[in-house]
Amino acid sequence: MFKHAKDSQVSITELMLPAHSNFSGKIHGGHILNLMDQIAFACASKHSRHYCVTASVNKVDFLNPIEVGELVTLKASVNYTGRTSMVIGLRVESQNIQTGEIKHCNSSYFTMVAKDENGKNVKVPGLILDSKQSIRRFARSIARQEQTRTRSTRFNSSEFKMEEHLDLIKTQNATIELFES
Ligand SMILES: CC(C)(COP(=O)(O)OP(=O)(O)OC[C@H]1O[C@@H](n2cnc3c(N)ncnc32)[C@H](O)[C@@H]1OP(=O)(O)O)[C@@H](O)C(=O)NCCC(=O)NCCS
Repeated sequence: MFKHAKDSQVSITELMLPAHSNFSGKIHGGHILNLMDQIAFACASKHSRHYCVTASVNKVDFLNPIEVGELVTLKASVNYTGRTSMVIGLRVESQNIQTGEIKHCNSSYFTMVAKDENGKNVKVPGLILDSKQSIRRFARSIARQEQTRTRSTRFNSSEFKMEEHLDLIKTQNATIELFES
């Protein structure tokens, strides 16, 4: 079974309240992460028609601070479908109510896995790729998964070659004081 991404797209807009601000009057990153997780869940559950769990997040860069009193809009869309997993692309923007200025706050990719009523991973409908943009997003998700695989094996403790990294580390804000070889 295959489905269009547009049928599970989700968008929410929320007013940023003082209760969610930090000591300098900006909104806590954790509050935005919470909203992102909720909307990724809504989108993945809508596509799969199952409750979903968050398997991973790749990755969250806070590009601009969000102020108390701004409207934050989060948009979510399924970018990729595997067997039981889906990659949900998220975009977060904030808007100043008085000036109307819109800031891009972050874009991120949540991998969600669908679960059945017994908590077992369950197959999800595939995506109908109906535009160049949807093919680009699907292909980019595959490329990102390949990059993650390469990165994670290189730094496996059994495969890690410390000597290859020492010169680079010496240029960083750290000092090496090894007690064991
Ligand atoms: C994530 C989880 C569902 C993986 O399930 P699993 O049975 O251990 O692992 P599997 O290898 O069968 O993976 C299932 C799918 O998830 C994907 N997956 C697993 N771990 C992943 C990760 N870290 N990043 C991206 N995708 C991942 C796999 O690629 C696979 O996708 P596919 O079916 O589309 O091919 C499972 O570890 C889990 O339930 N974790 C807890 C999730 C949770 O509670 N999140 C909220 C935290 S508070």
